[in-house]
Amino acid sequence: MKVLCFGSLNIDYVYDVPHFVRGGETLASRSLHAYTGGKGLNQSVALARAGMKVYHAGAIGEDGTFLLELLREAGVNTEHVEQLKDVRTGHAIIQKDESGNNCILLYGGANQSITRQQIDRTLAAFSAGDALVLQNEISELGYLVERAEAAGMTIVLNPSPMDDSLPPLLGSVDYLLLNEIEAAQLLHIPEASAPEEMAKRLQAQFPGSTILLTVGAQGSLYAGEETILRQSAVPVQVMDTTAAGDTYTGFFLSGVLGGHGPAWAMKYASVAAAIAVTRPGAAPSIPDREEVLSRMKEI
Ligand SMILES: Nc1ncnc2c1ncn2[C@@H]1O[C@H](COP(=O)(O)OP(=O)(O)O)[C@@H](O)[C@H]1O
Ligand SMILES: [Mg+2]
Repeated sequence: MKVLCFGSLNIDYVYDVPHFVRGGETLASRSLHAYTGGKGLNQSVALARAGMKVYHAGAIGEDGTFLLELLREAGVNTEHVEQLKDVRTGHAIIQKDESGNNCILLYGGANQSITRQQIDRTLAAFSAGDALVLQNEISELGYLVERAEAAGMTIVLNPSPMDDSLPPLLGSVDYLLLNEIEAAQLLHIPEASAPEEMAKRLQAQFPGSTILLTVGAQGSLYAGEETILRQSAVPVQVMDTTAAGDTYTGFFLSGVLGGHGPAWAMKYASVAAAIAVTRPGAAPSIPDREEVLSRMKEI
């Protein structure tokens, strides 16, 4: 079985500013740092660090070569990432002010240049029983789901960011991994609803999917056929929760696709995500399999 993560690759440009720039104002920033980002990239890194053999598919511009290097260093196969000449890599321009608040301008770039032809070329290398991991940050997602379902692949979706294009695709999804905000949007209920209630409703609404609901420091819930499992979060000193959900996704999938039961996979994922939130950044904060396994023994 092969695992293909077909998703976003982003550059996060973080500018340190004394205050957010106002209309008509010209403001000098104190520093600029470029970080790797994109849920697709983070989930591929998490899958690889969790011990899976993973292929990433997506698109970048000529300015995105360092993203490929990071994926390769993590052990991700990048032969299905296409580098485009006429479009920039997807990116975010992030202003960070003195109190640590930020405001973000997003540009889809190459992530929004995924074509049906690229999807056909990529899926030709995969077959029935292989897994496809998706988020909602690339173009032609509906076509991708349709072709992967026709090919008999196991479809995993993290419906983030949520929008109206997603509900019609959910009947084709085998694993639906989402947080409480996405669940509330999907179910049209308040975000503060009890997690058990959300998990039960998701299962009733999407009976063909295995549901994995993450609720931050409150842990996570699994809703499969007639079973609800609950895993608490591992208490830690939080430094930066960026990529908590992506880390959880990669480790949980690595567990279940690798043949473990859901309870073990939830524990594996919770320990990995707890380690990630104690460290700054996105991909660099994701631990590897050995570190997670040794921490699991202590719990
Ligand atoms: N403050 C925290 N302490 C410990 N673990 C956490 C914390 N926040 C998140 N996690 C772990 O990461 C998982 C995913 O976090 P969550 O916030 O639900 O995802 P997302 O990043 O998609 O919003 C949680 O289920 C939990 O296991
Ligand atoms: Mg959250």
